[in-house]
Amino acid sequence: MSKPSPEPWRVKVVEPIRRIERAEREERLRRAGYNLFDIASEHIYIDLLTDSGTSAMSDSQWAGLMRGDESYAGGRNFYFLQETVREIFGFPHFIPTHQGRVAENLLFSTVLKPGDVVPNNTHFDTTRANVEVNGGVALDLVIPEGKQVHSRHPFKGNMDLDRLDRCLGENAGRVPLVMLTMTNNSGGGQPVSLENVRGTRDVCRRHGVPLLIDACRFAENAWFIRQREAGQADRPVREIVREVFSLADGCTMSAKKDGLANIGGFLALRDEAWVERLKNKLILIEGFPTYGGLAGRDLEAMALGLREVLNEDYLAFRVGQVTAFGEALAEDGIPVVEPIGGHAVYIDGRGFAPHLPPEQYPGQALTVALYQEGGIRSVEIGGVMFGKPDPARPGREILPDLDLVRLAVPRRVYTNTHLEYVAEVIRAVYRAPERMRGIRIVHQAPVLRHFTARFELI
Ligand code: F0G
Repeated sequence: MSKPSPEPWRVKVVEPIRRIERAEREERLRRAGYNLFDIASEHIYIDLLTDSGTSAMSDSQWAGLMRGDESYAGGRNFYFLQETVREIFGFPHFIPTHQGRVAENLLFSTVLKPGDVVPNNTHFDTTRANVEVNGGVALDLVIPEGKQVHSRHPFKGNMDLDRLDRCLGENAGRVPLVMLTMTNNSGGGQPVSLENVRGTRDVCRRHGVPLLIDACRFAENAWFIRQREAGQADRPVREIVREVFSLADGCTMSAKKDGLANIGGFLALRDEAWVERLKNKLILIEGFPTYGGLAGRDLEAMALGLREVLNEDYLAFRVGQVTAFGEALAEDGIPVVEPIGGHAVYIDGRGFAPHLPPEQYPGQALTVALYQEGGIRSVEIGGVMFGKPDPARPGREILPDLDLVRLAVPRRVYTNTHLEYVAEVIRAVYRAPERMRGIRIVHQAPVLRHFTARFELI
């Protein structure tokens, strides 16, 4: 196992966490209908629900909050953020939003016509939803290895260029843009290679279609390029980032990930064509274009976070910590998606608990077991999240290919010791998986049911 390097920071402020007793955890689970979204965070010991908006800010970001300029128009933090985005990504036009999905909403409600097609390596849920709600068809064209749990392909987030080429040919005139999600969150946090971005750009150019990057985890992706791609090992990360984005026509961003901020996002574009319409829409739904739904201080935290995330000591630690955590589990035979992704470790629920049939949601059962055993919160990305009623078999469901549990690691929040504890809890559950009980849904909403569903143990 690669040993994680020490944390490249020292601690200045602490937030106490507490592990409640097992009997209380079991009671909390019962009351929450075995849905971890319904457990208050003070009853969670280690919270790996998401890496989004959960980062710890630096002393410099906290100091930056005091420089917040809360003018309605033209505040200084906006100009600093604009300069930061231009410097890092190279896009001249920039629209702040309060989080990533608003950038997606603005984009797709402005440029999409009903019946249009939007290819992506894999759409994240909110991207897909924003395409579909505007009458579009969201297509996932990741390479086949991207869907295989055990393929060791170094860039499992890559776009399948042949399928993209065919898709753009067959749908000529109906594709307003192509997206590329880096890293590919829904596919296990897997990176896209620089060569594949180049290839995607070439295909897009041949068909005259713009390419936009979903940049949420752009710095982690650049770190993987540097580590894994031939000829990239000696390049500064900043330079790799600059090259990646020079190949695209714009990006959407949630600064809650690689912006190291607790809130914030943006849409950035090279070309002016859509900008005026986007800004008018922004004024309607978010606010004036120099604050976009955020306080001036949030813009400052975001700008500083975008600069800090490119620090190579930070990135080496960040990606190294997640890798070491995942590899420690893999070495003990625990079935995880490999290679380990940038922001999270994904456990294969069906492989972990083979005694549970897929209809009993082994992934959800594992999230319950990890809370019961150690107060850990994770999230199921499988049958509960994506299962759909099967019209051919009343009462049964069509289940997705994979039933995963995501353990997302917040940035700069948990130490290596915390993650060793989590690994120990997972091992303890894995030593006696037959103690895990299957899950039955007793209440569900018609859409996005995983947030509010209630369950029973079988
Ligand atoms: N794109 C990707 C790839 C994401 O992972 C997310 C959010 C978004 C867009 C939307 O950004 O939350 O700021 O509106 N992912 C979070 C997660 C929620 O837990 O993976 P947002």
